[in-house]
Amino acid sequence: MLDFLFKPGKIGTVLLENRIIRSATWSSRASEDGRVTDDLIKFYEHLAKGGVGLIITGYIAVDPSGAATPRMMCLFDDSYNQGQRRLVKAVHEHGSVKIAAQIAHTGSQVLKPGVEMIGPSPFRDPLSKKMAREMSLAEIESVIRSFIEAGLRAYDIGYDMLQLHCAHGYLLSDFLSPEMNKRTDDFGGNLVNRIRIIKKIIISLRDELNKDFPIMVKLNTHEYLNNGLTFEEGKIIAKELDALGVDAIEPSVGRVYLKFSKNKSYPTVKFDSKSEENYFLSHVRELKPLMNNAKMILMGGVRDPLQADQFIKQGITDFISMSRPLICEPDLPKRWKEGNLDPPICNNCNACLFNGMKKKVSCVIRNDKKLEKN
Ligand SMILES: Cc1cc2nc3c(=O)[nH]c(=O)nc-3n(C[C@H](O)[C@H](O)[C@H](O)COP(=O)(O)O)c2cc1C
Repeated sequence: MLDFLFKPGKIGTVLLENRIIRSATWSSRASEDGRVTDDLIKFYEHLAKGGVGLIITGYIAVDPSGAATPRMMCLFDDSYNQGQRRLVKAVHEHGSVKIAAQIAHTGSQVLKPGVEMIGPSPFRDPLSKKMAREMSLAEIESVIRSFIEAGLRAYDIGYDMLQLHCAHGYLLSDFLSPEMNKRTDDFGGNLVNRIRIIKKIIISLRDELNKDFPIMVKLNTHEYLNNGLTFEEGKIIAKELDALGVDAIEPSVGRVYLKFSKNKSYPTVKFDSKSEENYFLSHVRELKPLMNNAKMILMGGVRDPLQADQFIKQGITDFISMSRPLICEPDLPKRWKEGNLDPPICNNCNACLFNGMKKKVSCVIRNDKKLEKN
């Protein structure tokens, strides 16, 4: 019945067993200094056993200046490699599941004491009410190098792919944003300049990495701010990345603080009705025909396996990805494959996100004793 969702598919040269991807999800299980812990490995083992084709890790900070979320993984230097190798090996021990490292810089969104807010230009972050400091040209070049080195390390560690985090108001998406990026040098102003930092990272990674190592991008394609990135610009950026040889694009939107506003412009939308599912479908429908090489990943409220199967069959998307349902039920793909097509237990309440700030990302529904027995 699910003829397409469970059909193998390639991203670049890497074959995935099915079309279901675990979208990057910070689990708040690294140590305080960003190292892999036993608890983090256990979290990923559950996912690996649960039947997804590809796991994209939670965001991994490439540089100390961009590690502003509690207990996120870090990859600043080779001292992190040993723990990271344990993680990749633990995942690879479970069948043919693949794992991609999501590399990121948290920029102006600081949730941890002691990390300075930085960005392309000085701007006031509506969530913290603090000002981001403008980065110097030397700092930009240094961050570019940190991304490249973290990418090379990820390859060396044994990851199957990379994903560059260019979304959600973190540093690389702030450069794309006309609202946050008011620079007058080569890294700001028109779109050609605002995309330059991302292009430089990708071009260098392509030069320095094995050519077969796929590079994906999670991309803000729309910002929903008065003077923010428009979807028209988002489409141009996606086309540029496709032309650069990016292997897959996972379109997203917004900034973290927008989740506190009424509009649905943050990726982790709280919703409670079927009609609100697949909330980035309209973006993907328009983006997919523009791609020559890059595969499209539909993310955001994907919950119905039969519908997902149809989206793939109709060529609307190549893959789908989910985050919250797999925190609640890491074995959801296996359950669907075995014929139980009930919707995910996850009710999109976002308690998992808030739990992560205090302790670790976990599902409150799943902790309910009655459901746990099922
Ligand atoms: C607990 C939690 C952590 C997340 N961490 C990340 C992250 O590290 N990187 C990222 O790009 N998106 C992150 N997201 C966003 C998800 O990848 C996804 O884009 C979003 O939740 C929408 O998908 P869903 O409706 O299937 O949950 C996170 C979401 C949640 C709930």
